[in-house]
Amino acid sequence: MRIGVDYYPEAWDRSLWEADADLMQQTGVEVVRLAEFAWCRLEPEEGVFDFGWLDEIIGMLAERGIRIVLCTPTNCPPMWFYEKYPDAVQTEKDGHKTRKGIRGHRCINNADFLRYAERIIETMTKRYADNKAVIAWQIDNELEANFCFCDTCIGKYRSWMKNKYSTIEAVNKAYGNVMWSGEYSSWEQIDPPFGSYPDAWLNPSLMLDFNRYASDSVVEHINWQAELIRKNCPDTGITTNVWFCRNMPNFYDEFKGLDFISYDNYPVTRLPDNPEECYSHAFHLDLMRGVKRSRFWIMEQLSGGLGCWAPMGRTPSPGMIKGYSLQAFAHGADTVVHFRWRTAAGGAEMHWHGLIDHSNVPGRRFEEFAELCEEAKTLKAVCNTEIRSDIAILYSPEDEYAFKIQPQTNGMYYMEQPMMLHSAFVKCGLNVDVISQLEDVSGYKVVVAPEMYITYDAVAKKLERFVKNGGTVILTNRSGVKDEYNKCIMQQLPAAYRSLVGAYVEEYDPIGYDSADIRLTDGSVYKCRRWCDVIHPETADVLAVYDSEFYKGKAAITRNRYGGGNAYYIGTVCEQSLYNKLARDILNEAQIAFVEGLPDNVEITTRTNETMNVRFIFNNTNREQHFCIGDEDISLAPFEMKTDKSIRE
Ligand code: GAL
Repeated sequence: MRIGVDYYPEAWDRSLWEADADLMQQTGVEVVRLAEFAWCRLEPEEGVFDFGWLDEIIGMLAERGIRIVLCTPTNCPPMWFYEKYPDAVQTEKDGHKTRKGIRGHRCINNADFLRYAERIIETMTKRYADNKAVIAWQIDNELEANFCFCDTCIGKYRSWMKNKYSTIEAVNKAYGNVMWSGEYSSWEQIDPPFGSYPDAWLNPSLMLDFNRYASDSVVEHINWQAELIRKNCPDTGITTNVWFCRNMPNFYDEFKGLDFISYDNYPVTRLPDNPEECYSHAFHLDLMRGVKRSRFWIMEQLSGGLGCWAPMGRTPSPGMIKGYSLQAFAHGADTVVHFRWRTAAGGAEMHWHGLIDHSNVPGRRFEEFAELCEEAKTLKAVCNTEIRSDIAILYSPEDEYAFKIQPQTNGMYYMEQPMMLHSAFVKCGLNVDVISQLEDVSGYKVVVAPEMYITYDAVAKKLERFVKNGGTVILTNRSGVKDEYNKCIMQQLPAAYRSLVGAYVEEYDPIGYDSADIRLTDGSVYKCRRWCDVIHPETADVLAVYDSEFYKGKAAITRNRYGGGNAYYIGTVCEQSLYNKLARDILNEAQIAFVEGLPDNVEITTRTNETMNVRFIFNNTNREQHFCIGDEDISLAPFEMKTDKSIRE
């Protein structure tokens, strides 16, 4: 395992650099990320470049055996650029230009920006092409889907539409535009979803397509930058760093043309009081691994209490700095880079804490980081191992967009069911993959397919085949609801999945913040929430019925034997304990061995290669945990990770 830090030499007095580099070396830092916001120092005046300082710090770190990730600094063009090209800032939804001087606010399709971006990228990549210390390039920083509403972007959006639909009639038909007399008669009438009126008045078909376009637009920009970098640095790995932001690009498209995934990982520092609230970042880590189905990097990792655009939050309690990094490793991140070395003393982010506080006196968090660096050395042999799983959870960025565009009911959001189902399988001590719904699933035994909202027939057919061949699938409410244009399908739900599920939904009750009861065949009663599908079984068996509401006695959860396998359908959003029970029953039925009786929020993952299995047991709680796995007694301190190796037979 390799540990790194994000470092901003441009913001520190030169007199601090040497001591910082020494301390990094002594502590065991192996990678430093540099320069993603440093354009104004790299090109202080138009066409006048100053790489002296960057050469110096790279040299200083390289001398100490530290490797460098360099970033294209395109997130923040300098002020002289905006002064000359004021139109290069993004345009907001209401037609106003964004205020300059904050970050990430250049329009990525603006021709002037692109010209200057190309020059700085070419100059930088030429300069560092032969520098052996530079091991990777990061494109920009946390690029979001392109929600700019300037004339250039509107033009691009219309071209995207023309390219997709060819004729205006096809758009009108796909979107059902006759509603509210919205039919277009020319391409110029097609506007992106802007204006001051609420989004809820817009056609969800247009909104979904706009999200697709906005993602494609940023992906095009990423690929453009990647190509520029490759011209001078063909052998250096290229990535970009992502997080689960509001305008998320489609991660699968985003990383297709890049060499590896980087994720910015900020797990919670305040654990929720409500035991129903899932706080493990394991789901996100597994999702990141699933984007390229390979190991990945954390490019920014929690280092201190967070705060800047929000009031300051709790400082990481003892064990979190180290434990959360090791957790990322246990889920497939071979390199974990901590954000940031020292807390910024100036600028908007001065309350977002790094490993070292403003005083520059290394404290408790730094000591823990130093322990992490030591432990990382012992895990070197475990890099390049794989995480193999019998269980996959399907994730769809489009379904997530569609749920954001039309919230289904109060409190319901797309990620809730995938995360709760994920927790249920994690609680059985198993590796779980989170992959795109478009991936091949034939190597798995259990496929969890929550909220298959936008329907692709090929996906429905694939799941049918998977079950016919002996697999187990778990489908849920809000499946088969929409066609690919985000229009409702005129069939009883779950429409394309009906024969697989062996049941249809007679009616549904979006109960939102209310709750209802369900009763299992063994008589046990659980609460459910958000949504109740009233299920009419055709060939399916009933596993649970509602125990309240006017549909008391009607099916809530079913199982259909289909070919050689089973299709489960969960019509409501359950308590975590019920998902846990269902997961155990399903694993027993699918004959997948699992660990019984793990305490809540203890995670076990296994990394494997030809010769060995390495098991990680992580206590993701702030309590000591004592439990048994078979005849092993295990004790874990808060956020402690235990690792053991076994030889593969
Ligand atoms: C990240 C971002 C960093 C920094 C950090 C803390 O999401 O990439 O540049 O802003 O948040 O605020």
